[in-house]
Amino acid sequence: MSATGKPAKVTVRDLQRLADEGRRIVSVTAYDAVMGRLADEVGVDLILVGDSLGMTMLGYDTTVPVTLQDCLRHTAAVVRGVRRALVVADMPFLTYQITPEQALRNAARFLQSAGADAVKLEGGERLAATVQRLVECGIPVLGHIGILPQCVKTAGGYHVQGRTAESAARLLRDAEALQEAGAFAVVLEGIPMAVSAAITAAVRIPTIGIGAGPQCDGQVQVLHDILGLFEEFVPRHTRRYAELGRIVRESLSAYCDDVRGGRFPGEEQSFR
Ligand code: KIV
Repeated sequence: MSATGKPAKVTVRDLQRLADEGRRIVSVTAYDAVMGRLADEVGVDLILVGDSLGMTMLGYDTTVPVTLQDCLRHTAAVVRGVRRALVVADMPFLTYQITPEQALRNAARFLQSAGADAVKLEGGERLAATVQRLVECGIPVLGHIGILPQCVKTAGGYHVQGRTAESAARLLRDAEALQEAGAFAVVLEGIPMAVSAAITAAVRIPTIGIGAGPQCDGQVQVLHDILGLFEEFVPRHTRRYAELGRIVRESLSAYCDDVRGGRFPGEEQSFR
């Protein structure tokens, strides 16, 4: 607890301490205040307002159409629901790749107007100068290497990275470059577990895996995947902890039946 009676906020130093002590970092995405609050209440360490909101909330096929405004709005909503967890905002496609100054201006909006604690950028070595600029100005950065969903069009799909010696060596260079530039942690997405284990052993900063095996310092998952709200398919890296899609459908169809059958509202939902 802090002096204000609020639970102490998780900081980037806390995440480093967890990794140094061999305790796993838990992370999940959230896109609104309600889910942010629920994840926070159960003690999730890092809540990511992922640009996966393009698919989970906005109905797009990829993250490419997601705008700065979309991410700012959803980040501000999550921040309003969270008291303790570190809230990281994803910077969407082309809001940070043009120049480090563009990245700085846009990243500042996530901290100043949306209330995020940090931002996440997709890319390794090629973004080192940008990461360094943000960190020097006081903006904590979470790196992201491996599958880069914002590059789906150039990659021609979502393909596991690091399967050849050359690609594995490139990923290690990327992780080291991000650490050198000052990133506080790095997401490893879609990487064979032996390669992520080697990266995790080689860098000091925490690695947070999604489809990167059990030896990362932490794990992140898309909320809709683990709760069964995204039903088109179950990604290989996901485990379903609930079937909320089914529960929502059953509940709504019971409501439809009750309204149509004259059973809702009853006496107790009515006024005299
Ligand atoms: O947008 C997102 O949800 C992400 C996670 C998959 C790491 O970047």
